[in-house]
Amino acid sequence: MSLIKGFFAKPTYSVRAIGSERAEECERLHGASFAFPWSSSDFESYLADGAIIADGAVNDLAPKGPLGGFIMSRLTPPDAEVLTFAVDPARRGLGLGGALLDRHLLNLERGGARLIFLEVADDNAAALALYQRAGFKVIGKRDNYYQRADGQRGAALTMRLEL
Ligand SMILES: CC(C)(COP(=O)(O)OP(=O)(O)OC[C@H]1O[C@@H](n2cnc3c(N)ncnc32)[C@H](O)[C@@H]1OP(=O)(O)O)[C@@H](O)C(=O)NCCC(=O)NCCS
Repeated sequence: MSLIKGFFAKPTYSVRAIGSERAEECERLHGASFAFPWSSSDFESYLADGAIIADGAVNDLAPKGPLGGFIMSRLTPPDAEVLTFAVDPARRGLGLGGALLDRHLLNLERGGARLIFLEVADDNAAALALYQRAGFKVIGKRDNYYQRADGQRGAALTMRLEL
């Protein structure tokens, strides 16, 4: 019985640095989350770049198995910019996004970031909730910034966190 329970146990995740060996998974997670996906070769270049900091949610029971999500930034001290951030659609709303963001911000701070910037669609309630909780403030709005899958354009908010 305990074996069966163990087999079906809900995975727990730890946030760890990821490199270019995770490019295909980042492509999959990104493709499931955004209208205009980035390719695995885009991710390979990013993840091999020394200025890129990337963290993934690694399954504790199967560390080489699928990531629960990832977040990636360009670190150019004293600034950093969050480039992309996605959680597996099947695992959203469980705190993975918050855990990834919190740990990633700490890593950026340790790397010398004092100001962190990002762009977020103005109707992305889940992301906005996380960013506001982390202390990001809206510093600008860019109309018609995003092209949506339906052809409409949407506004982006520029946010900044001072550490
Ligand atoms: C944004 C994203 C990474 C969040 O991941 P997640 O694992 O679901 O995040 P969490 O479970 O830690 O937290 C989600 C938060 O959003 C809140 N939330 C979710 N849907 C919401 C909604 N429709 N309105 C308001 N708040 C919402 C939750 O209540 C939670 O906040 P809380 O912890 O204060 O309760 C995930 O939704 C995602 O991958 N989205 C698609 C890609 C994306 O938009 N990336 C960000 C680009 S800037």
